[in-house]
Amino acid sequence: MVGIAGGPDKCRFVRDELGFDVCIDYKAGNLQAALRDACPQGVDVYYENVGGEVQKAAFADLNDFARVALCGQVAQYSGEGEAPGPNLMGLVLKRATVRGFLAMDHMQRHAEFIRDASRWYAEGRLRHHATVTQGLSHIHEAINSLVTGRNIGKQLCQVDDERSPGAPGYTTGL
Ligand SMILES: NC(=O)c1ccc[n+]([C@@H]2O[C@H](COP(=O)([O-])OP(=O)(O)OC[C@H]3O[C@@H](n4cnc5c(N)ncnc54)[C@H](OP(=O)(O)O)[C@@H]3O)[C@@H](O)[C@H]2O)c1
Repeated sequence: MVGIAGGPDKCRFVRDELGFDVCIDYKAGNLQAALRDACPQGVDVYYENVGGEVQKAAFADLNDFARVALCGQVAQYSGEGEAPGPNLMGLVLKRATVRGFLAMDHMQRHAEFIRDASRWYAEGRLRHHATVTQGLSHIHEAINSLVTGRNIGKQLCQVDDERSPGAPGYTTGL
């Protein structure tokens, strides 16, 4: 399984903590070459969270009949507007399946998720990391960090003083 993240620290985290075989630093340049190195036989399944240059590289290396789950397009959230669309002809030629994914469609399984994920977390099978911004007055910093990549793991904004960032699952930095 190949991950893609921005910067050497995040890549180390993805590899060593989250258990990916390889992690590509998309900010290091030569993304397409790095992807081809990591996936010499092409990409069968691509989970899309970011769009932009990462999407362009991944779409270029999809295999025939590849499957793409479209979850988000964070590269478009910086206020610079929508990037020009990708050339979709490649998807035609590769007979790829692209399907949007919305977490809300699965809310009826929320209780099941909390039960299973809590157990997996307690057993160390599921890793969680969060960067916590303190106070509602700093929420803009929390939101900006999503597009600048300052956060590591889930970006949270703590508004309840009684909930300490030292509590289980609430940590900052690596
Ligand atoms: N479909 C759904 O139901 C659903 C639900 C929730 C969230 N989402 C989507 O999931 C994605 C992640 O959201 P999240 O709230 O969980 O935030 P998140 O995982 O913290 O993701 C934000 C990260 O995106 C990376 N990023 C920012 N700009 C980028 C760019 N131009 N190219 C590549 N990577 C970039 C940054 O990491 P690096 O430092 O590594 O670049 C940043 O830390 C978003 O696209 C969001 O819309 C979808």
